Amino acid sequence: MKTNKNVFASKVGAILAAAGSAVGLGNVWRFPTETGTNGGAAFILIYVLFMLLLGVPIMVTEFAIGRHGGEDVTHAFEKMSGGQRGWRWMGLIPLVSGFLVLSYYAVVAGWTLYYAYEALIGGFSGKSPEDFTNDFVAFSSDSLQPVFWMMIIIILTCGIVALGVQKGIERGARIMMPLLFVFILVLVGCSLALPNASKGLTFLFQPDFSKVNSSVILSAMGQAFFSLSVGLGCLCTYACYFRKDIDLMKDGLSVASIDTLVALLSGLIIFPAVYSIQGLQPDAGPSLVFITLPNVFQQVFGNISWLAYLFSLIFYLLLVMAALTSSISMLEMSAAYFHKNLHLSRPLAAVIVSVVCMLLGTFCSWSFGDWKDVTLFGMGFFDLFDYIVAKLIMPIGGMLMCIFLGWVVDEKVLCAEMTNNGTIKSPLYSTYRFIIRYFAPLCIFLIFANELGLFGFLK
Ligand code: PFF
Repeated sequence: MKTNKNVFASKVGAILAAAGSAVGLGNVWRFPTETGTNGGAAFILIYVLFMLLLGVPIMVTEFAIGRHGGEDVTHAFEKMSGGQRGWRWMGLIPLVSGFLVLSYYAVVAGWTLYYAYEALIGGFSGKSPEDFTNDFVAFSSDSLQPVFWMMIIIILTCGIVALGVQKGIERGARIMMPLLFVFILVLVGCSLALPNASKGLTFLFQPDFSKVNSSVILSAMGQAFFSLSVGLGCLCTYACYFRKDIDLMKDGLSVASIDTLVALLSGLIIFPAVYSIQGLQPDAGPSLVFITLPNVFQQVFGNISWLAYLFSLIFYLLLVMAALTSSISMLEMSAAYFHKNLHLSRPLAAVIVSVVCMLLGTFCSWSFGDWKDVTLFGMGFFDLFDYIVAKLIMPIGGMLMCIFLGWVVDEKVLCAEMTNNGTIKSPLYSTYRFIIRYFAPLCIFLIFANELGLFGFLK
């Protein structure tokens, strides 16, 4: 049985917590990077399409499994399959994924915290473009500094998770998500007022389909997965704490809409800023946010130094908060497993997961410096973890969950879950069922096969 403490107290709280998991560095850092390197508007259109056709159905699938199961993900699979214990192993997906994803995500989150700190102490002022590049390379490859900031992020995350579902996760989302929106809107306003902002808008909104190829399509699918946090069982874990009156389809669409809106607004902050200086290009890649942007803030607002200060500070604080609301959901995945299955107290479970993630995170951080040459399957630790999470577990996990719900679970159970036992209408139910039975497994198989290089000849 769910105890009251193990349920999100309100519908809004539950939606904000799920949206908090979805909205993260994937929106503010990865989305602009991917959009920039994949040609702009055409990529965005395809991404939104995949969000609707694939991301939302898988999200709803995770919601249905988690909420039906109630107490914990492992038992959720067993219960939903009609008591077949054999499906319990699916609960291991979030357990393992939580460790892996948090370990490398916390490294980048740590960078954002360091940049927020630098912005706060006015560390960007008077720097030249070369300084920004050199400083970022020196910082990210240092053996101690980024590890220190990564650990602070994990400690903050651990503190929130240890406080529990209502007092920690829900309250954190209720405070940080609205603040995040305010920060975004302020920054969009400032960015649109920059010279040449219209060039940034054209890049974002005027599609050039000649740039679309199979790799752009597959990147858009991958981005939709990562951004919505689907496939790892993260939303399944949160849905265990959903109340019975949540409309899984409608509220899933709300979460996806918030996530997409934040991604687009981040684009509205970043691309007008990039185009405001002649010579800068939107396809700078992952360093866009850590090298290109601080440089833009200094150059554009250089003679109004307080504006450069404020813009940088708000921007990096925004990144930190977005990262935190996601890292909370990552830690919760593994901590919930220990808490529920091994009956450890919630704080102890959170601390154990945190310590392991700090250790793994240190290896990931060192892969930018001292351990650059330490590789496994040709990848450093950071890239390897990202590969395993985003390119292996997300597609396979998403596909398995769709197959589970579409083919294994009794249709009456699914229908009852989607309609809250017949108390609400679910007009998209048949479309949803078609997608999880046929379309999603097939599409995901294609992404996966591509990642394994089976379609190399298409590129
Ligand atoms: N969706 C998050 C982001 O966009 O940053 C990342 C993420 C969170 C991925 C939780 C996976 C996850 F389980």
